[in-house]
Formats: sequence, C-alpha cells, structure tokens
Amino acid sequence: MQVVEIAGTGGPEQLRLARRATPSPGAEEVLIRVAAAGVNRPDVMQRQGKHPPPPGASDIPGLEVAGEIVALGTEVRTWRIGDRVTALLAGGGYAGFAVAAAPLCLPVPQGFSWVEAAALPETFFTVWTNLFERGRCAAGETVLIHGGTSGIGTTAIQLARAWGARVYATAGTADKARACERLGAERGIDYRREDFVAVLADLTAGRGVDLILDMVAGSYVERNLQAAALEGRIVTIALLGGERADIDMSLILRKRLTLTGSTLRQRSVAQKAAIAAALRSAVWPLLDAGRVRPVIAATLPLAEAAAAQALMETSTHIGKIVLTVAPP
Ligand SMILES: NC(=O)c1ccc[n+]([C@@H]2O[C@H](COP(=O)([O-])OP(=O)(O)OC[C@H]3O[C@@H](n4cnc5c(N)ncnc54)[C@H](OP(=O)(O)O)[C@@H]3O)[C@@H](O)[C@H]2O)c1
Repeated sequence: MQVVEIAGTGGPEQLRLARRATPSPGAEEVLIRVAAAGVNRPDVMQRQGKHPPPPGASDIPGLEVAGEIVALGTEVRTWRIGDRVTALLAGGGYAGFAVAAAPLCLPVPQGFSWVEAAALPETFFTVWTNLFERGRCAAGETVLIHGGTSGIGTTAIQLARAWGARVYATAGTADKARACERLGAERGIDYRREDFVAVLADLTAGRGVDLILDMVAGSYVERNLQAAALEGRIVTIALLGGERADIDMSLILRKRLTLTGSTLRQRSVAQKAAIAAALRSAVWPLLDAGRVRPVIAATLPLAEAAAAQALMETSTHIGKIVLTVAPP
C-alpha cells in the first residue's frame, strides 16, 4: 500500500511517499481502506521529534481516518465488511489502509462525506474527554476556548454551544475572531490586539468564566487564573506557548479553582472506547441531524501531506486539514 512516512526529524520535507505491506488486523481490530485521513498538530510534532508514537503504534503519522471496513479480526462482532466508519488511531492514518481497534470506530454520520468523517475522531474524542468529562461543561455556564479556529477549537465552540454554554474564544487575527463568532462564540477575541483577561472581565461584569480549554499554557496559565470565575475549571490540552509558568497560587485557593489536563494518544484502548461510547450516544445524534459539522479548511491528496503540514504550521487555517486517499 501507499503510505507517507517520516524520513527523519525535521521540516515538512521529511514526509515522503513510500510503499509498505498492508497491515493485518489483530483479533479485536478491523482493516479500513482509507478514503480520507485527518491532519492534526500532533502529527506535525511527531515529525519534529516532539511527540513519538506510543509503544506498539505505527510509526506512520495519522491519528484518524474514514473509509470502508475490508477485513475483520476474529473476535470482532460489532462491525461488518463494507461498513463505512471513521476511526481514532494511535498512528498509521497517512496510508492506503489502516488498522483500527473495533471499539474506536464510529459510523460515518448521515450525509457526511469521507473528508468530513475523517475530520471527526481526534478533535471530538479530545474535546469530549477534556471539555465535558474533565471540565464538566454545562448549560448556562461561560466557557473560554483558546485557539478557537484550530481543529480542536472549532469543535469545542460548536459542542459547548450545543450544550447551551455561553462561549468566548481567542484567535490570532480579527478575521479568525469573527470566524469563532460565526461558529457560535458570543465574542471572538483577537489576542494580538486585545487582552483576553480584560475583555472577559468586561463581558462577565467582573465574574470571570466557569471553564477554560487551553492549548497554550506558558504565560496563559497565570492569565487563565485571573480570567476564571469562582469554582472555575481550567483544562490544559497542549503547551504551544511553553511548559512552565510562574503563577500566583493564592488565586487557586481564593477562587477554589481546578487545574487539570490530559493527553489522548497514550490512553488504553479501553479508556478510549469509553469515550467513543459516550460520543456515540451524546454527540453522534447531533452530527446525524446536521446540528454540528466539522469545519474543513483544506483538502489535499495524500501525496501532498508535506504541503498539508506546512499549511498547518502557518496557523492561517480555520478548522481541519484533511488528506484524501485515492482507491488503490
Ligand atoms: N491533549 C490532547 O489529547 C490533544 C489531542 C489533540 C490535539 N491536542 C493539541 O491541541 C492543539 C490543537 O490541535 P489542532 O490539531 O486543532 O491544531 P491546529 O488546528 O494546528 O491549531 C493550533 C492553533 O493554536 C494556535 N496557537 C496559539 N499559540 C500558538 C503557538 N505558540 N504556536 C502555534 N500555534 C499556536 C494557532 O492559532 P492562532 O494563530 O489563532 O493563535 C493554531 O491555529 C495542538 O497543540 C495539539 O497538539 C491535544
């Protein structure tokens, strides 16, 4: 099969087309003929040597695919050959075929293209487990989403809105801030021109926000503490702005704040399967009804994976970047 592999640590030019043997599914896995594969920031970090695949995972990048099931492991009872699925992977998505754990596959939502379906798993699993399970996002609460136009951010804004939360989002340009508003944010904040702590203090009459989803960390940690309301929760999912922070701990005590965070890729199949089950009952009906839809920023053929990752690194995209895979 055709794959895109990482020749060595470095820039997008390290991504190159190659041929590998088509993998075989294990007892509780399925083999998917990939029609489309999502591109995620962790793929870029893997190429940069900052995010190695967990033990046992494919070295080929790619954390999510959509396609047709073409082979079943001996113990798989939940899927049939020919089923159209989208799947969360620990790696191996930039390929003609990919092996996925059966419980980490979900049906392609009604009316969704392969490209739209492939854009779902990584961001929806991440947003569900962080914003809802850890962050306890609830109707009527105020939520701040940093990186509002990222793949994660565009998903988080829509789901928080669908849950009845009041959403604010930050982004790096005025255009991107307006894009956040079109997705359902009450106010997009252009963080290069505006101080999100001051804007939110104004918008909430000094109360602050109940929940913050943060992918920046670094200097944002202290500012998140300032922007949070009493009993606020702050969930960190990435460290784009730096791993270390100098913070005023008294803010945590005085406001009774909760700081938490998590990563998805290292978790066990059983833990990810629990997220898949929750998504299927709570979120898939919204997708089937067309109430929530992934935002597709760009679609490129698999052979142009380097250009896709280079585009991601410009951070000019709004939403998801997806690779399309031609039938073999
Ligand atoms: N914890 C988990 O389980 C998990 C799972 C998946 C992804 N993630 C993380 O979540 C983040 C978003 O992922 P994604 O795939 O949605 O990525 P993405 O679409 O590339 O979005 C990343 C966005 O972060 C913003 N940003 C803010 N500060 C930045 C900085 N210092 N450097 C680069 N970008 C910065 C950029 O928007 P502006 O230019 O508007 O600021 C950029 O568009 C990534 O960091 C990824 O590693 C975490």
